[in-house]
Amino acid sequence: MARILITSGPTRQHLDPVRYLTNASSGRMGTALAQAALEADHDVVIVTGPVDVTYPQRAEVIHVVSTEQMLDACTSVFPHCDGMIAAAAPCDYRPVETARDKLSKTGHPLLLRLVETPDIVAALARTKRPAQWIVGFALETNNEHARAMAKLAKKNCDLIALNGPQAIDSDRNCIKLLDRTGQVLLATEGSKTDVSHGIVRAICQTLIK
Ligand code: C5P
Repeated sequence: MARILITSGPTRQHLDPVRYLTNASSGRMGTALAQAALEADHDVVIVTGPVDVTYPQRAEVIHVVSTEQMLDACTSVFPHCDGMIAAAAPCDYRPVETARDKLSKTGHPLLLRLVETPDIVAALARTKRPAQWIVGFALETNNEHARAMAKLAKKNCDLIALNGPQAIDSDRNCIKLLDRTGQVLLATEGSKTDVSHGIVRAICQTLIK
């Protein structure tokens, strides 16, 4: 039995108190992975951005809003876990400044200056103990295999699940699970529930001793 950290959903980076940058992640993949891991008798901690999904009752759930908050929560939780499945889609940019009051219209274009937010997977991988493992996700639209392998190497993941934009806000997914040598451990299409069982099974076979 392993204790698994699952990141899930989008994050938000506020421009002002009412407006934010985000993405279309629903949290459904994180929910399905958590359920599959619990059914395989693992303990699950979910760190999630704002979502409408209902997570399994047996999972511990930590709610965050921004990418920085997701990193802080994961940094606290990860040392007490055996591994991590990074199914979240954290917002990659934040405005240089967040206005304290709501921005008013001026009749002119509004130019936003954005900077990159921290990469949670890459940051946690730098702290990883030898026995700990990380499974990342890569959503790609072109040159998929090569881009997923580059991401796996850059973020120092053990496995990476490659999927496409059809996964967004859908009940279904089509994934390829790649290892560090580029071998396809699993290629499957179906409900996010079925796909998640396949991913958890592959993790058990290759990463959980
Ligand atoms: O670079 P990209 O966002 O495509 O990488 C996807 C993988 O990295 C996913 O596993 C996602 O959860 C993770 N990620 C992260 N922190 C970010 C951006 C992505 O952990 N700021």
